[in-house]
Amino acid sequence: MTSARSELVLGIESSCDDTAAAVVRTGREILSSVVDSQIAEHAPFGGVVPEIAGRSHLRAIIPTVDRALDDAGVSLDDIGAIAVTERPGLIGSLLVGLCVAKSLSFARKLPLVGVHHIEAHAYAATMEHPVDYPTLALVVSGGHTALYRMDGPGELTKKAQTLDDAAGEAFDKVAVMLGLSYPGGPSVSRLALEGDGTAIRFPRYRAKDGKPGFSFSGLKTAVLYHLRGQDALRPTPPPEEIENKADVAASFQEAAVDTLVTQTLAMAEQEGLGTVVVSGGVACNARLRERMTAAADERGMRAVFPSPAYCTDNAAMIAGLGWHRWQSGQLAGLDLDASAR
Ligand code: KG4
Ligand code: ZN
Repeated sequence: MTSARSELVLGIESSCDDTAAAVVRTGREILSSVVDSQIAEHAPFGGVVPEIAGRSHLRAIIPTVDRALDDAGVSLDDIGAIAVTERPGLIGSLLVGLCVAKSLSFARKLPLVGVHHIEAHAYAATMEHPVDYPTLALVVSGGHTALYRMDGPGELTKKAQTLDDAAGEAFDKVAVMLGLSYPGGPSVSRLALEGDGTAIRFPRYRAKDGKPGFSFSGLKTAVLYHLRGQDALRPTPPPEEIENKADVAASFQEAAVDTLVTQTLAMAEQEGLGTVVVSGGVACNARLRERMTAAADERGMRAVFPSPAYCTDNAAMIAGLGWHRWQSGQLAGLDLDASAR
């Protein structure tokens, strides 16, 4: 394939439990996006085991980069710059991607760009759907639930964040209580399709002193107490003894989605922002997509979601935002370091 060399960025992502590589042209056009998921390796433990994640990245990273180049129909000779997730994430996982990115940059004399994982999630939604800045970004994943004012690609100012658990973490924990498979978000939302979301009235977070925000640990505890029959001292029943599991899943999902929608749109109104971009793993949730879109419509606002493949961890968003960093001269040296925070 003939491509202007300077337009292609190879992105590498290894911050958590997905090894990913992608080739993106001019920050938007995704030529390839490969994700090697470790879900099966972590599933028996009900969560990500950092030691396993690091080893698995080591095994998968080179084949994943090779596949991203193959799928795009290009070789390293066509690549103009390397972008890599530098933070935040599991340190042993981040270091694997970083080592490969630095080695390629050194060997091929290619510019190196460090990308912040959360800034890339927020950028992901805008790759497929151009937006006018400023806009409001909701990043909602397994580790983060926060609202940002976005003034341009990767230009985020935090406006609110969860006081405790991330929304995805709440989905994952409720899935464990209900005996559903890991990761919890997809399995809870699948079961919720069979249940009644109005069956149980779980608590919703409400803005404190007029300031929108999030909290999910009270909701998680409310689900636990519901399962224990309001007797906090009673042990949690084993999943097979829980009645109306689908109603619990649907009612929990309804409360979580309600909190995300009301708080996000309240912040958009307060900040005078007409567009909301939603990204991160929980942005895959069909009920969230439906309710956020309808509620934004009612207020004359616009809600924008990436395709599900670009909601969860991927390297297309890293290559995409990496392009903007590269074009504005924000290059990293070979001393680029990983950071967990
Ligand atoms: O962005 P992501 O892939 O990794 C992090 O950076 O955390 O997000 C993973 C999170 C998990 O908590 C997972 O349960 C949640 O996203 N998730 C969902 C859905 N799909 C994934 N939560 C709710 N509904 C879904 N359909
Ligand atoms: Zn993520």
